[in-house]
Amino acid sequence: MSRLETSAPAKINLSLRVLGKRDDGFHELDTWMVTLPGLADRLTLEDADCFSFTCDDPALPTGEGNLVVKALRAFESAAGISWNGRIHLEKRIPHGAGLGGGSSDAAALLMALNDLAESPLPHDRLVETAASIGSDIPFFLGGGSTRCRGRGEVLEDAPAAPGWRLLLLKPSFAVATPDAYGRWASASPLPGISHGPQTHDGVELVNDLEVPVFGKHRFLAELKQWLLDRSEVSAALMCGSGSTVFAVLRDGTDGEHLARCARQELDPGLWHWCGAIRP
Ligand code: C5P
Repeated sequence: MSRLETSAPAKINLSLRVLGKRDDGFHELDTWMVTLPGLADRLTLEDADCFSFTCDDPALPTGEGNLVVKALRAFESAAGISWNGRIHLEKRIPHGAGLGGGSSDAAALLMALNDLAESPLPHDRLVETAASIGSDIPFFLGGGSTRCRGRGEVLEDAPAAPGWRLLLLKPSFAVATPDAYGRWASASPLPGISHGPQTHDGVELVNDLEVPVFGKHRFLAELKQWLLDRSEVSAALMCGSGSTVFAVLRDGTDGEHLARCARQELDPGLWHWCGAIRP
């Protein structure tokens, strides 16, 4: 009887540049992504007579549309095997948050299945299979600190992740990624909101999806500006296509206290996570 438990970390984009729209409908990117090992989902795989997939978050659909199930099907077809077993997912990363939770779950499952089946897929086939399910899934096969180009699947080494302490804040609404990219070409900046690059410890922080997403979700612009106006915060940026915004905390800042202030002053329903990029 084999049982495997694996962790699927969240990511943030320290920078995300959209270079243009491609003929295949995707957008050409140049983005620096780093994983957050301290904020992670957990996947458990166990042998069983038939396949089942369960999740502790009842809001998440567990059918064939779930990225975990898509990853299983893609693995089966690439490796030419059929896997019967139980998969259980414990969600800690909010979805529709720009934190890559679903993509990370899919990558963790691909790696776990390949391990259990004694590596039928070499690394390049695993990357190809990951890219066939979603643009940022190849990144999560290696994680860490990576520069991602193309539609996100072309990976290059990046400098080591900075050891910053972060506060992540997310309202209860989600942002649909296709909608964020769909608004990119025609969006214009909101007055009074800082969208330009911020430099912290020699790192340029910028996210080209802020303009299109803030145009539709004004609250996220307000949240970012509220963080930037606080003396405890060195920099603030939307994560991926939103709806999470992260703040880089100055030394000695009590992130839990800042999260309480944000709930009191902005939205009592804000989700938060506080921790270091490298724990
Ligand atoms: O690849 P993934 O399924 O994660 O992408 C979700 C959607 O986000 C795509 O269907 C597309 O609308 C948009 N997208 C894009 N350019 C990218 C990545 C995603 O336009 N590089």
